[in-house]
Amino acid sequence: MHTHDDSAAAAATDAAAAPSAREWWEARYAERDGIWSGRVNAVLASVTWGLPVGRALDLGCGEGGDVVWLAEQGWDVTGIDLSVTALERGSRAAVSAGVEDRTAFVAADLARWETTARFDLVTASFLQSWPVEIPRADILLRAAGFVRVGGHLLVTAHAAPPHDDLPPEMHGYRFPSPSEDLAALQLDDAWDVAVAEVRPRTASTSDGDPHQVLDSVVLVRRLR
Ligand SMILES: C[S@@+](CC[C@H](N)C(=O)[O-])C[C@H]1O[C@@H](n2cnc3c(N)ncnc32)[C@H](O)[C@@H]1O
Repeated sequence: MHTHDDSAAAAATDAAAAPSAREWWEARYAERDGIWSGRVNAVLASVTWGLPVGRALDLGCGEGGDVVWLAEQGWDVTGIDLSVTALERGSRAAVSAGVEDRTAFVAADLARWETTARFDLVTASFLQSWPVEIPRADILLRAAGFVRVGGHLLVTAHAAPPHDDLPPEMHGYRFPSPSEDLAALQLDDAWDVAVAEVRPRTASTSDGDPHQVLDSVVLVRRLR
């Protein structure tokens, strides 16, 4: 397991919106220890089930629930996030699960992060940010460039508000549709679109009551 921070260099070269997005997410993660469930996202688990394992990249990995689950299935996984606090939690979860040798956590802004590596699976689960907007369409376009020939890109997003009592800062946030996320990828005929749809899912409120949420799911495969 490796955790390193190249966010300082990114911040030094561009003092635009990213540092405030980073600050906002850091503050959000500092609110309490563990803001997500720690479990794999259901869409990722169902979509990747049966795929041959290889090298995976999780964009906006947060506290590492998807990273750790993929590593448990045998993938070598790199998770990227703005928040060092979230990544430290992911690293600890990887150690607890005994998969630290197959995981790496990197603090970086995905609007600028570069790599020469190419991945069998690139995934972005709920890479959405409010009230500090991020250049999400640009990030998704860049994500497509990280997929190796034969590999998959999975983009899962809230297609509608995930619960009724939205905090004021979420009012006005625009939830993406599958066709909008697909358009952001600017795919040519080197790609096959396997899934582009809204899927209903039963989630739990903070009180444990079940309620339905809508996930936008886009899965594409690079053919050449
Ligand atoms: C809604 S959370 C989802 C976390 C995780 N994927 C999950 O499903 O539990 C969005 C995550 O994206 C990260 N994020 C937002 N903008 C980012 C950016 N420009 N670069 C890297 N990470 C970013 C945030 O820090 C946050 O952890």
